[in-house]
Amino acid sequence: MRILVVDDEPRICHLIKELLKGEGYQIDVSFSGDDAMEMIKRCDYHLLITDLKMPGIEGIELIEKAKQECPEIRAIMVTGYATVDTAVQSLRYGVDDFIAKPFNITELKMSVKQTLHTRKIALANIQILKDSKPRSLGVKSYEQKLSEKIYIMSEQLAEVNKKLVQRDNELDTINEISKAITSVLDMDELLSLCLNEINGKIKVKHSSIMLIDEIRNEFVVRASQGHRSMQVLGKTQKLDEGVAGRVVRGKKPILVKDIRFDSRFSRYERSDYKTKSFISAPLILGQNILGVINIIDKISGKSFCETDVNFLCTIASQVSVAVENSRLYKVLEENCITMVKSLADDLEAQDLYMSGHSQNVSKYSSSIASVMGVSDKERNILRDASLLHDIGKIGIPEFIFNKPDKLNNTEFDTIKSHSVRGEEIIKPLGFLKEGIRHIRGHHEHFDGSGYPDRLGGEDLPLLTRIMTVADSFDAMTSERTYRQPLKIDKAMSELKRMSGKQFDPKVVDAFASSEILKMESELEMKY
Ligand SMILES: [Fe+2]
Repeated sequence: MRILVVDDEPRICHLIKELLKGEGYQIDVSFSGDDAMEMIKRCDYHLLITDLKMPGIEGIELIEKAKQECPEIRAIMVTGYATVDTAVQSLRYGVDDFIAKPFNITELKMSVKQTLHTRKIALANIQILKDSKPRSLGVKSYEQKLSEKIYIMSEQLAEVNKKLVQRDNELDTINEISKAITSVLDMDELLSLCLNEINGKIKVKHSSIMLIDEIRNEFVVRASQGHRSMQVLGKTQKLDEGVAGRVVRGKKPILVKDIRFDSRFSRYERSDYKTKSFISAPLILGQNILGVINIIDKISGKSFCETDVNFLCTIASQVSVAVENSRLYKVLEENCITMVKSLADDLEAQDLYMSGHSQNVSKYSSSIASVMGVSDKERNILRDASLLHDIGKIGIPEFIFNKPDKLNNTEFDTIKSHSVRGEEIIKPLGFLKEGIRHIRGHHEHFDGSGYPDRLGGEDLPLLTRIMTVADSFDAMTSERTYRQPLKIDKAMSELKRMSGKQFDPKVVDAFASSEILKMESELEMKY
């Protein structure tokens, strides 16, 4: 069988050539659609394997022209621009199969074999039609032979149709999963959603995603579902260890149908494994390995197969893009938050009495949150919101803050507007979405008598209740134009006096027992 491979990347052409030469095919290569057309005119090829995006004649146009020149030629599209739309469009324009880069070697070989087999059947059918003149055969014998051939053809057609329906369903599923995961930017949410979607398609006992921590140079299990999820979540592993290490080294998936009979695993490893069948696929973007995705044991008890590997690899390529997007978004978000924080620092630096206030609020809030068992994720939100809680003071005339006399009503209303202004400044940036409500609410009271929304009790989020205690404590223990700073015990007495009114009693208690308060008290006694 003679095959023409067309790709503007010579490396890809030669790779496919080497892979298929070993299967006994005769392979020619071409690096452009125009040259490929000249070769097709000169030589009788059975199969064309082409890239989609190429300078000059692109993949789909090349296939159309090749089929006009040589109707028996079959075509497989191999492309890095793998979208469902591309796949559907390719199938519409006479492409016999479609493989996404980075391709799986087994998948490529299977596709070539299947496509050439289909071609053989089609040619045999044409031959039947050519033989349809009775000639020397008797009419009865001819009819019998014809009906036998039609029966075989209908069987083959039913089989092809079944495969097409299966492929169509897979494309639909992949499309749905792609849409879902590419719309999420929060890494934890993204990874957990991804595992949900995979579990929805292949019911498995356990699944996990391990990402490479480039600073610590090791895998970290960032998402996990199933009966062992709590055991493995957050665990780390060296990059050269275990199945994940093998996947990363080989840059290709590992399928284990039944570990007891798999020669790649030693007896020692087999006895240690509680799993029977699994797939581990790499998360790759360009040349970078981001991590691995693992699915372990089907609930049905059946083993994983090549179809599952192809499905997981396709999903893995989508997840890789989404993971990278999420990381880039995080960097962008951190840069933007840093920029706004430095703006807030500048603002405080201009006011002698406010200097260091936001840093202190962040420090006290974090310590209270720690006592109250707030998650790391929530503590990060609290840290950023605390650092920016007074950003709304930008634009409020300086003389109002530094006025030694009592503020009039208008001036007081202007000051009070800063919590809402803070929300208005941060919101359009599109970052710190979960922290904005704490910035808006940092002057609310536990009994609902605060501003701007008069929220109280459980309607006031815990992080906001923490921030109000931290904010008030630092305000009381800092010097103001109109008074000296309060001593720590006096400030704590005030917090306790207002406990249940302005402040959540649980938060005040947590602060009273916090490490930071002990440290501040010791410092106060020394100086
Ligand atoms: Fe404030």
